[in-house]
Amino acid sequence: MNHFQIKTSIHFGTDALSSLQRIENKRIFVVTDPFMIKSGMIDKVKLQLEEKNEHITIFHNIVPDPPLENIVNGIQVMSAADPDVVIALGGGSAIDAAKAICLFNNRLNQKEAITKEVTFIAIPTTSGTGSEVTSFSVVTDRTKNVKYPLVSDEMLPTEAILDPELVKTVPPFITADTGIDVLTHALEAYVSTLSSDFTDAFSEKAIRLVFAYLEKSFRNGEDHLSREKMHNASCIAGLAFNTASLGISHSMAHIIGAKFHIPHGRSNGIVLPYVIEYNAHIKGYTDRSFSIAASKYAEIAKLLNLPSSDTRNGVKNLIIAVKKLRKDLGMPASLKEAGVKKEEFYQELDSLAEIAMKDKCTITNPRSPSIGDLKNLFEQAFLGN
Ligand SMILES: NC(=O)c1ccc[n+]([C@@H]2O[C@H](COP(=O)([O-])OP(=O)(O)OC[C@H]3O[C@@H](n4cnc5c(N)ncnc54)[C@H](O)[C@@H]3O)[C@@H](O)[C@H]2O)c1
Ligand SMILES: [Fe+2]
Repeated sequence: MNHFQIKTSIHFGTDALSSLQRIENKRIFVVTDPFMIKSGMIDKVKLQLEEKNEHITIFHNIVPDPPLENIVNGIQVMSAADPDVVIALGGGSAIDAAKAICLFNNRLNQKEAITKEVTFIAIPTTSGTGSEVTSFSVVTDRTKNVKYPLVSDEMLPTEAILDPELVKTVPPFITADTGIDVLTHALEAYVSTLSSDFTDAFSEKAIRLVFAYLEKSFRNGEDHLSREKMHNASCIAGLAFNTASLGISHSMAHIIGAKFHIPHGRSNGIVLPYVIEYNAHIKGYTDRSFSIAASKYAEIAKLLNLPSSDTRNGVKNLIIAVKKLRKDLGMPASLKEAGVKKEEFYQELDSLAEIAMKDKCTITNPRSPSIGDLKNLFEQAFLGN
């Protein structure tokens, strides 16, 4: 038996932020990052809330790839604020941090038998993680240089607000990194062992939107339509992978991010073409008995109107299209290009493969990798071609 559910209520499109005006006489706790304060983005949110709500506490210490210390501090501030509504404003880092803060705060409350229903509203300001509709949160242990994906339906936001106005300030390089993260979510969900007709529908739409609008939003951040479409694509891909989960591009990107401090989407962009090739497993096959993953990649090639005379040709052209998009977005094609030094890479190679193997996303990859396979993939990603 299979199951698909959307818990989060989604407000999207122009002026979506005004949906906050429904909140009245509540204690509100906002989790965000310093950029949101400096840029004045927080004022747009406060403007919607201040007239009808007296108690608004703002915790703005979240840094990219939120470390455990961020979560611990956040729990203390949340506990003192005693909110009815938690609002996460920012990229995946702020939303993930808010989720972890709420989760652990709930656990503490349960111990003390405090039962308070808190509404959790996620307002993404990057079009990337889809965190506003997922049960996932990624936190970093800086002492061990490891990222931990937490998974719990308790962390699913009650509401998501997708307002394209909030992403217009995202600089081109973050637009590129986060946009490729969207593509990776959709493609990994599409070939995941947990994919279904339901998740495929979301993946297909997200992939189409990325190929149609990512480069436009990268070239002109003020372009309202492409910003809106990419913001929707990010959330739609989130809906796909929240049920179908992900694959080894993410297992690899998690540890690459933790060890070498390369942004999450950029890490995915480097490994994705190699992972597609590995999953499709078309090299050396002379018959037509390709894997399901290979057939599904070829379906995507068709969907994108890429040449795809047969499965092998479709997979190859999808890989070429992903590499071309990455190049057009000015993104590095290898870890070496992204600044990782040879000695450092080879010193870490064994542990990269071991940690990626244990990552939760490896479980749903369409092809089960060995440690040797993962080492090969990391090496390909380091060298590029
Ligand atoms: N929960 C999930 O399902 C999930 C999925 C994928 C990735 N992640 C995690 O999410 C994190 C990455 O999130 P991200 O890619 O959104 O980046 P991010 O939240 O780390 O933000 C990157 C930078 O962009 C800035 N920024 C955010 N919004 C902006 C705006 N509107 N204008 C200008 N600058 C802006 C931030 O201040 C920050 O400096 C990683 O920790 C990754 O592991 C989580
Ligand atoms: Fe991701």
